[in-house]
Amino acid sequence: MPGGCSRGPAAGDGRLRLARLALVLLGWVSSSSLTSSAPSTSSTSFLASAVSAQPPQPGQCPQLCECSEAARTVKCVNRNLTEVPADLPPYVRNLFLTGNQLAVLPAGAFARRPPLAELAALNLSGSRLQEVRAGAFEHLPSLRQLDLSHNPLAHLSPFTFSGSNASFSAPSPLVELMLNHIVPPEDHRHNRSFEGMVAASLRAGHALGGLQRLELASNHFLFLPRDVLAHLPGLRHLDLRNNSLVSLTYVSFRNLTHLQSLHLEDNALKVLHNGTLAELQSLPHVRVFLDNNPWVCDCHMVDMVAWLKETEVVQGKARLACAFPEKMRNRALLELNSSHLECDPILPPSLQTSYVFLGIVLALIGAIFLLVLYLNRKGIKKWMHNIRDACRDHMEGYHYRYEINADPRLTNLSSNSDV
Ligand SMILES: *[C@@H]1O[C@H](CO)[C@@H](O)[C@H](O)[C@H]1NC(C)=O
Ligand SMILES: *[C@@H]1O[C@H](CO)[C@@H](O)[C@H](O)[C@H]1NC(C)=O
Ligand SMILES: *[C@@H]1O[C@H](CO)[C@@H](O)[C@H](O)[C@H]1NC(C)=O
Ligand SMILES: *[C@@H]1O[C@H](CO)[C@@H](O)[C@H](O)[C@H]1NC(C)=O
Ligand SMILES: *[C@@H]1O[C@H](CO)[C@@H](O)[C@H](O)[C@H]1NC(C)=O
Ligand SMILES: *[C@@H]1O[C@H](CO)[C@@H](O)[C@H](O)[C@H]1NC(C)=O
Ligand SMILES: *[C@@H]1O[C@H](CO)[C@@H](O)[C@H](O)[C@H]1NC(C)=O
Ligand SMILES: *[C@@H]1O[C@H](CO)[C@@H](O)[C@H](O)[C@H]1NC(C)=O
Repeated sequence: MPGGCSRGPAAGDGRLRLARLALVLLGWVSSSSLTSSAPSTSSTSFLASAVSAQPPQPGQCPQLCECSEAARTVKCVNRNLTEVPADLPPYVRNLFLTGNQLAVLPAGAFARRPPLAELAALNLSGSRLQEVRAGAFEHLPSLRQLDLSHNPLAHLSPFTFSGSNASFSAPSPLVELMLNHIVPPEDHRHNRSFEGMVAASLRAGHALGGLQRLELASNHFLFLPRDVLAHLPGLRHLDLRNNSLVSLTYVSFRNLTHLQSLHLEDNALKVLHNGTLAELQSLPHVRVFLDNNPWVCDCHMVDMVAWLKETEVVQGKARLACAFPEKMRNRALLELNSSHLECDPILPPSLQTSYVFLGIVLALIGAIFLLVLYLNRKGIKKWMHNIRDACRDHMEGYHYRYEINADPRLTNLSSNSDV
């Protein structure tokens, strides 16, 4: 019986151990499902936590959101959310996360298990995003439309749209991308150009080949990086309204053979040169919008005016007007001919200014001369005396030679006056 007695406690120990194990397991599950609501920084940890979360119930809707399964839409709008809800319903096709306080979009921010395979339109407009990390939109196989507008994007990863696997970028399903007014305030920009940062994300290892609409309005762009369009061969609509573009000389539109609309209104364009004109003319379907640019109507405008008169590419071409020089202001470009378009070496108003300037310079030189004279008045007095002496010697010679017979009292008088 001792054997039996010893077996009893042993069996009890086993049960106890099993119960402990179950408790530990339970604790682990509950703690890991708690962490799923905490922000995670890497794709893998996010996936792991998403997996451990309970799969969402069909009728379930995240807190502070409105869901419509019939419309396949989830709206979490103006809720001051600081992170993307973890429990998005799997049927969601249109997701609105506008007017929140997301600040950072980490890798795999929308990666769920099962994945949000239906999600096609994602609107993150005006959610105070400052940073979008590599692979933020990974594991969204149907994402066609993405709106990141009105966020002060100081950090946009070059792998935002291509995925975080730097050695392998899968083609992105994106068709429409809105990046309007994403320029951060001046003091939040880094020494790298904002244009360069956006261009790097659009290059995306050629992942955005299917992109058809790209909106980049109101971003203070001073230039368009040379190769930014080269990796977007499918573009149909390009919106660059309300930037600060001065020139298109270094941009190539040649490969955008599907381009249908090109918006360049409200920029700082001065003239379009032959190369650009020829490229635009060669695109079969394009409509170009050029209103509200400060066109400079001088001799460099001749080619563009000639082109405008012929082309059907520019919409509302009759509205285009000169901003400079002053005498040409508000003249319609279409009504100009080469006799109006001159390059004076100096323009009349600046000529006047240059005369005023010359006058000022001369007056200054005069004043300095007088000052020097005044400061050297003693030396000058001495110099005058020397001159007078020299003159007198000369005059005395003169006297000597020609007035040798004159009254000797006169010579005495003049030599006395010197004392
Ligand atoms: C969001 O925050 C703003 C100010 O911080 C506040 O006025 C507003 O009521 C908040 N909205 C919600 C839905 O909490
Ligand atoms: C995204 O939401 C904003 C704010 O509601 C709206 O103005 C914008 O048109 C939406 N974007 C798209 C592509 O529908
Ligand atoms: C990156 O992608 C390549 C090709 O699909 C794959 O072999 C590699 O394991 C991936 N690396 C990571 C870190 O996911
Ligand atoms: C940008 O700033 C960082 C540190 O602030 C510096 O190390 C880097 O050299 C700078 N880059 C350029 C191009 O100025
Ligand atoms: C033009 O861009 C500036 C700067 O991004 C912005 O503040 C302004 O509202 C924009 N104007 C329009 C009409 O969109
Ligand atoms: C245009 O496309 C061709 C072939 O796809 C490529 O070789 C060339 O570099 C592209 N040119 C520009 C300016 O992007
Ligand atoms: C631009 O092209 C036109 C017509 O092809 C030509 O007459 C003109 O000389 C060119 N202008 C320049 C600056 O090359
Ligand atoms: C240019 O325009 C002026 C007046 O607008 C006109 O007198 C002149 O004949 C025009 N010259 C050419 C070459 O069309």
